[in-house]
Amino acid sequence: MKAVICPQYGPPEVLQLQEVAKPIPKGRQILVKIVATTVNSGDARVRSLRVKGFMKVIMRLVLGISKPRQPILGTTFSGIVEAVGDKVSKFKVGDNVFGMRGFKLGTHAEYIAVDQHSHVLKMPKNATYEEAAAIVFGGHTAIYFLEKAKIAEKPTKKILIIGATGSVGTAAIQIAKHYQADITAVCSSRGQKLVGELGVTNIILYDKEDFTNRAEKFDVIFDAVGAFNRKKCATLLNENGIYKSVNEYASDTIQQLELLKELFEKGAFKATIDKTFQMAEIIEAHRYVDEGRKKGNVVLKISD
Ligand SMILES: NC(=O)c1ccc[n+]([C@@H]2O[C@H](COP(=O)([O-])OP(=O)(O)OC[C@H]3O[C@@H](n4cnc5c(N)ncnc54)[C@H](OP(=O)(O)O)[C@@H]3O)[C@@H](O)[C@H]2O)c1
Repeated sequence: MKAVICPQYGPPEVLQLQEVAKPIPKGRQILVKIVATTVNSGDARVRSLRVKGFMKVIMRLVLGISKPRQPILGTTFSGIVEAVGDKVSKFKVGDNVFGMRGFKLGTHAEYIAVDQHSHVLKMPKNATYEEAAAIVFGGHTAIYFLEKAKIAEKPTKKILIIGATGSVGTAAIQIAKHYQADITAVCSSRGQKLVGELGVTNIILYDKEDFTNRAEKFDVIFDAVGAFNRKKCATLLNENGIYKSVNEYASDTIQQLELLKELFEKGAFKATIDKTFQMAEIIEAHRYVDEGRKKGNVVLKISD
């Protein structure tokens, strides 16, 4: 099968399209013929090892000391079950599925074998493969942080989402809406239209105004871009306000994937797709993601 290989940490140009062995599903594994995946900030970070200070050591320990232990990057996938192991009960050949691999990676390939009990579900009935792949990365992260901020339990839910136009930010808007929060979003003039389309009316353009000077107070501040810190936002927090940032560690659960599926099927969560690249355009896709300016998600099309 074809796969994108990352033989060493470095710029997008280290990536190579290669022929590698097709996995064979064993026991509880399903073999997924991947149709779509994404190139996201996580892939760019793993490839480049672009993290600060001590995090670099942690990343090397987790991902591989001198090169990625799993040379096939990619965290999200959607596709069709092509074969199943002899102990599989949850899925059958022909099912449309989508899922999240997190640090296990491996989705920038034509096929992947995953455990039926890992973070994989049947696709939302109304989603295209591109949409299903695109809701996963930012969706998981947004749910993680808004749940950590205890948004569901807050009696008043005035939230400030900083960096509202990325994969995480666009998902955070939609998850905050699900919790009926009163949203104020911080984005650039370039992102204003998109944030408006996601239903936010209170928009602060960071290239026109320094939001940290506002007199308003919020119950939750979510820095979805990681460009700020608690101290810079301190005057904007209510007495019991909670500040969360993507600079903290987040983890993925099957419940997050289930919530995304449910919201997508209800029409309460939409995929925000900026661009779609073909597998052969992987270097171009990484270059684009590296800019840190994408609006929503970049889809990588693996097959038709
Ligand atoms: N902790 C975790 O587990 C975890 C998980 C996922 C992501 N992350 C991190 O979260 C961050 C965002 O990820 P992502 O995938 O959403 O990134 P992304 O899709 O690349 O989006 C970044 C967005 O932020 C906007 N932006 C850039 N600078 C900004 C600023 N100063 N203020 C407000 N908006 C700004 C950009 O648009 P403009 O340039 O037009 O403003 C762009 O739309 C990354 O640093 C990523 O590494 C962490």
